Amino acid sequence: MPQTDAQAAGARPTETQHVMDLERAYLLQNYARYPLVLHRGRGCYVYDTDGNRYLDLITGIGVNALGHAHPRIVKVIRDQAGLLLHSSNLYYHEYQGRLAERLARMSGLARTFFCNSGTEGIEGAMKMMRSHGRRISEQKHEIVALDNSFHGRTFGALSITGQPKYHHDFEPLLPGARFVPLNDITALEQVVCERTAGIVIEWIQGEGGINLVSSEFAHRTRALADQYDALLLFDETQCGVGRTGRYFGYQLIEPAILPDVMVTAKPLACGIPLGCIVANERAATSIGPGMHGSTFGGNVLACRVALEFADILDELLPHITQVGAYFRMKLDEMKKHFHFIRDVRGVGLMLGMDLEFSGKQIVLDAMKEGLLINATHDTVLRFLPPYIITEELVDRAITTLRRVLRNARPPQA
Ligand SMILES: Cc1ncc(COP(=O)(O)O)c(C=O)c1O
Repeated sequence: MPQTDAQAAGARPTETQHVMDLERAYLLQNYARYPLVLHRGRGCYVYDTDGNRYLDLITGIGVNALGHAHPRIVKVIRDQAGLLLHSSNLYYHEYQGRLAERLARMSGLARTFFCNSGTEGIEGAMKMMRSHGRRISEQKHEIVALDNSFHGRTFGALSITGQPKYHHDFEPLLPGARFVPLNDITALEQVVCERTAGIVIEWIQGEGGINLVSSEFAHRTRALADQYDALLLFDETQCGVGRTGRYFGYQLIEPAILPDVMVTAKPLACGIPLGCIVANERAATSIGPGMHGSTFGGNVLACRVALEFADILDELLPHITQVGAYFRMKLDEMKKHFHFIRDVRGVGLMLGMDLEFSGKQIVLDAMKEGLLINATHDTVLRFLPPYIITEELVDRAITTLRRVLRNARPPQA
């Protein structure tokens, strides 16, 4: 058995050091974690193993939508744990159909497939596109996606992720992925053609730095998908299920627009892994018996928790819009005081602050001050707070952030 660093040095490690050493000794070294060991959470706060408290504005990357230990979610999990956790998809259970019905009402689409994560949802949706295209012509297999997008880490999702840094080590990837710059209608028109089986859009690019698709661009994707009989997919993994103040981000586009397929995951079951593909009837016919499946997908516990969350979300949507607008206003105000803030972007409770330098040190400094945020696309501070955050807690976060930015030492050009 390998020794941890602390053991090798003959020292008795602190609990935090012990956890970090053990991971360094036994885990694949693929994550660059922050030096923080989380132990428990309540409401908008999480606590580390030493009992220090942090205001959580990143929520496990947009997952803990109701914060931590929400009493209704805790109750449902306790109840269901004593009844049945998992049944597999060999049998029916009481909650998949109910949740799918709910998702149909929320999304305006028709049929759901349940999986466990965003990347799995994208994989299934890509199979839909391929199968849809193949029924028309063997040449119809291309998928058009956006530069700077992020759709997940599995091979299919990676192939349509428009960030070469994620591709390098794994090439060759799936053939037929074509990329266009965000909101570049001319480029889109040049790439979409008879060979296009699907077009994939993240309505708000999350990992890419909180960039919004314009209504005009979104409408053009719809028109081109119709013209070439391709499926239009909106990836709502990060911006879906209430985060923007609507059930799904695309519901903010005016005039209204519907994709053929939508994928979502992160907050869907408030921390229990659950993802889904929701499709209209036309897209749904591309997957027949035996063509796709999952052992865990749509498990009893996850579906029941998601139903409870959906009930709570119905009442929370106006609050998300209101507190999101307040947070955005406070960030815009900060931009006036710090010359190195390039831009503030986002909607609802999916917000980003683009700096002229890497945000990494700011994230670490904020953490020391009891505030959890993260940086994406190197320079963008990302805020994905719980939907239950209040204006008072936003003020607290802003005060901390202001202090951290005042002490920031931007690298000299
Ligand atoms: C838009 C989008 N799609 C897909 C994914 C992949 O989701 P997961 O990490 O659950 O596989 C993510 C994750 O951040 C995402 O933001």
